[in-house]
Amino acid sequence: MAFLIRNTQTRYGWIAILLHWLIGLLFIGQIALGLAMVRVTSQRTAFELIQLHKSLGFLLLGLVALRLGWRLANGTPNLPAGTGLLERRAAPAAHFALYALQLLLPLTGWALVSASVLEIPTMPFDLFVMPNLPVAVSDAGEAWWRAAHACLAYAAVVLVTIHVLAALRHHFRLGDTVLTRMILPSRQRDDTEPE
Ligand code: HEM
Repeated sequence: MAFLIRNTQTRYGWIAILLHWLIGLLFIGQIALGLAMVRVTSQRTAFELIQLHKSLGFLLLGLVALRLGWRLANGTPNLPAGTGLLERRAAPAAHFALYALQLLLPLTGWALVSASVLEIPTMPFDLFVMPNLPVAVSDAGEAWWRAAHACLAYAAVVLVTIHVLAALRHHFRLGDTVLTRMILPSRQRDDTEPE
């Protein structure tokens, strides 16, 4: 089969597949790192983990922007013909919420460090100094952005769990191509609705 770069009405191409798994793994790793680093007792280790967390957060922000651009330029395959009405409505809403979280999490993290009175510079992967966002610098402001960042992270845990369970249900219960078509373009058979 031809090397599929772009999505079609029935298949995901390689760019969408690679971005999906790269961002998915980084995103889950970033949540785990965030939860671990705020619980570490050694201040030095916590500091180093937070610098890594900030770098990965900016990497994710760039990758998600790329992915959204690719998605808007490409569209996505149709759902399999047997998909129920409820899921037809819920799936796009859940995907929209996942994209929103992938943008809002790094942005609130960025706002949180920008609001900090400690004014520790953010240097993604030690390459350059990232400018701060224009937010008020105060303890109260930092606390607000920290709470927003944490709430969004917990919402992301819930949504990612639902997303994974839905994909597994498609594969093991419904036996359709929703999961496999996000793994290999050549593993896809055409069980989507006709346009
Ligand atoms: C997709 C990207 C991101 C995810 C999924 C994420 C996730 C998390 C999580 C789960 C926590 C722990 C929350 C808690 O339990 O208190 C956290 C904390 C934190 N995040 Fe992020 N984050 C992301 C991006 C960023 C970015 C881009 C920055 C900064 C530039 C950042 C800065 C921080 C800081 C400083 C903390 C520690 C807050 C504290 O001291 O309590 N995060 N993040």
